[in-house]
Amino acid sequence: MTPLEIKGFRIYPAALNRAAQDRIIADVRDVLRQAPLFRPRTRRGPMSVRMSAAGEYGWISDTKGYRYEPNHPDGQPWPAIPGSIRALWDDLADSPRTPECCLINWYDEGARMGLHQDADEQDYDCPVLSVSLGAEALFRMGGTERRDPTVSHWLQSGDVVLLTGPSRRAFHGVDRLRPGPSPLFPEGGRLNLTLRVVT
Ligand code: SIN
Ligand code: FE2
Repeated sequence: MTPLEIKGFRIYPAALNRAAQDRIIADVRDVLRQAPLFRPRTRRGPMSVRMSAAGEYGWISDTKGYRYEPNHPDGQPWPAIPGSIRALWDDLADSPRTPECCLINWYDEGARMGLHQDADEQDYDCPVLSVSLGAEALFRMGGTERRDPTVSHWLQSGDVVLLTGPSRRAFHGVDRLRPGPSPLFPEGGRLNLTLRVVT
């Protein structure tokens, strides 16, 4: 599969066919039954995205700050990363390490994610692999400085993005979703999964 490269972000359009997307969503629903979505808070208030996770670690943000934690806010360990999602890492990540976190982001129609760097992991040589499912999302990609120019690209359901090399530390965010139903989510909304090595 030849990726599209934008500012060092490696985009694999339509990496997942409909059957593969359905499989992953069924597995994510299983994870969410055990580890329900919650709404993280930052110093600026509640996030518009709801989150959960699978794997040894999940990402938490609350009044004490943000960090990776081995347990869901309800005190239970996170469920294991489903094999259907882990397989994408094995196919595309080109990393000797195995992912320790699958972060699950749920975007309701009006949700967004501000420009940020993924910087809470210890080993930046390991890529972050991101999967888009459901509504299309306008993904903004910048450089390693917040003021660097950015380029935006609509991510489709089934696309995979690899943040690797220079893009691993680059600013990125989601400006908005395409409103309305998608084949995967008739009620609208978007699921984003990111596989990360944490330690
Ligand atoms: C993220 O940066 O954690 C999420 C990116 C996305 O939703 O595509
Ligand atoms: Fe991110």
